[in-house]
Amino acid sequence: MSLFDSLVARSLPFVPRPIVGGVARRYIAGEGLDDAVRVLRGLNGKGLLATLDVLGEEVRRRDLADLAMAEYRGALRRLRDERLQSNISVKLTQLGLKLDTGFCLENLRALTAEARTLGNFVRIDMEDSSCTDATLEIYRRLRHEGFENVGVVLQACLRRTAADLRALPDGSNVRLCKGIYLEPRSIAYRDREIVRKNFARLLEALFDRRFFVGIATHDEWLVWEACRLIEDRRLPGDRLEFQMLLGVEEGLRQIIAGQGHRLRVYVPYGSHWYAYSLRRLKENPHIAGHVLRGMLGRKS
Ligand code: FDA
Repeated sequence: MSLFDSLVARSLPFVPRPIVGGVARRYIAGEGLDDAVRVLRGLNGKGLLATLDVLGEEVRRRDLADLAMAEYRGALRRLRDERLQSNISVKLTQLGLKLDTGFCLENLRALTAEARTLGNFVRIDMEDSSCTDATLEIYRRLRHEGFENVGVVLQACLRRTAADLRALPDGSNVRLCKGIYLEPRSIAYRDREIVRKNFARLLEALFDRRFFVGIATHDEWLVWEACRLIEDRRLPGDRLEFQMLLGVEEGLRQIIAGQGHRLRVYVPYGSHWYAYSLRRLKENPHIAGHVLRGMLGRKS
């Protein structure tokens, strides 16, 4: 990362919202469900699956969690009515995790029950480490209650993840990602190579346990490693899928799908686009830097 890019990364919170919005447009389907549906149709038309995310997190009031629930319910019905190949991804802090764990559990149970009735599936995104215990506990609880249409996410950056994986119930459905939140060194690996190697190691453990695995990465080395494992183990295609974010590494996406793998694209939409956009841009300040360079009239 150049010095300019790293400065851009650090100064992003001070960049005016319209500028962040302009750069981040590629990562977000739009503000409304109609926008998201349009993007889903396009992806499905190319043979790609999707997972729909209503942007928003850390709600501090019950009525805001109720609003998120209503939006997700509407989205689930629309997916069914329009026969779209998409499930949903939810953040528990958006359903009230930080307000009251019981309230959040009730919300997720209701949403998962509705998804089951409509033949759909709910993926629980994993948030920062203050949520890990409660998120895993709620996931285990729903599986224990007999919900099979719910899955969770594990983060390869956390030192605890191998133990968390061992504690998951048989038949689990797990998305594995590197983890996007900045965590203290005491609980998370900071070295990118260690995170990569841990991802590969966890992937093997997930396959060993015969879980359904969502391999969520744009890191070509990890994609290569996953393909190697899939081939060596002759894993059936219906036990796994690759997952990528909207607007990221579309070339690699085509290569993976072209090899016949299931590929699911994460499609966020909604009015709460700002926090999500900042996270995406911090991951790739090169893009933000490019635009700012243009604005400032710099050549490189
Ligand atoms: P890495 O960050 O090394 O990126 C590999 C390459 O991809 C980069 O070199 C770059 O070319 C490209 N790239 C990556 N990010 C980019 C960006 N924003 N813009 C442009 N190019 C980019 N995290 C979490 O903590 N909880 C969760 O629930 C989820 N859920 C989730 C779902 C899905 C479908 C995906 C793909 C990712 C997540 N994540 C997540 C995010 C994940 O933890 C991680 O931060 C990102 O995927 C980036 O890590 P990579 O494995 O792609 O490697």
